[in-house]
Amino acid sequence: VTRATPYTNLPSVVLVGPPGAGKTSLLTLLERGDAAIDTHTSQVPQSIELTVSADQHLSFREAVKDDAPGEHKKFLLVDTPGHGKLRNFAMDSLVAREGLKGIVFMLDAATLDENLAATANYLYEVLLALQKRVSKTKTSKTPSVINVLIAANKSDLFTALPSTLVKSNLEAELGRIRKSRSKGLLASGVGIDDVDNEENDDWLGEFGSEKFTFGQMQEFNLEVDIVGGSVTEAKVDKWWHWVSERL
Ligand code: GTP
Ligand code: MG
Repeated sequence: VTRATPYTNLPSVVLVGPPGAGKTSLLTLLERGDAAIDTHTSQVPQSIELTVSADQHLSFREAVKDDAPGEHKKFLLVDTPGHGKLRNFAMDSLVAREGLKGIVFMLDAATLDENLAATANYLYEVLLALQKRVSKTKTSKTPSVINVLIAANKSDLFTALPSTLVKSNLEAELGRIRKSRSKGLLASGVGIDDVDNEENDDWLGEFGSEKFTFGQMQEFNLEVDIVGGSVTEAKVDKWWHWVSERL
């Protein structure tokens, strides 16, 4: 594992998500084999170069040591600051980055109850940016699928919600955000059926639908998966495999 120069053209996976979710801890674990005890609030993005073995079923620890001949794939893992004032780094890297193979949106499943609105607001921004990116390239060729992994971290804590509940809570909250954002539009006297999908820039997912589900993002070539794990306990192999399969 080496520090990457900023100019490599490797495929990349971007880590985004609210502050304190564990993004930098995950980066550190994958880079050094153990999670740092003292991470601090990230203020700038950082990238590391990682290698996936030809055998995608290897754990992240085995992949580091694997020197068997065969196809090794290198990629950049990009960590971004979660602080609300520093999200331009994350948002820019989602839209501008060539060779983007996946987005990992990490959240703290143990405090999701308290942080649901803030977490869902950020997720809304991320998914909406990706939705717009896809609808912009609608011209001739079908845009490639963009994969999003919602990594529900801190499953080691007893307050952590299981991924099924993380999913349903987020879907409900994203639906609420969607509704409240469209209020201005509806108040202007335009019926929801009269508005062209293209015109309503802030509506996430299937236009006019009552409930938001992550499945609605497929219409925009976005695949969303939700998987739990724990950086502290080094239970990150499901995320590692998710990434490996998308490179
Ligand atoms: P920002 O840089 O502010 O966006 O936060 P971040 O997402 O990079 O979070 P960071 O990795 O700095 O972790 C925040 C805190 O959560 C640290 O104290 C970590 O030790 C802790 N943490 C990370 N992963 C886990 C986990 O799986 N379980 C528990 N219990 N704590 C964790
Ligand atoms: Mg950080």
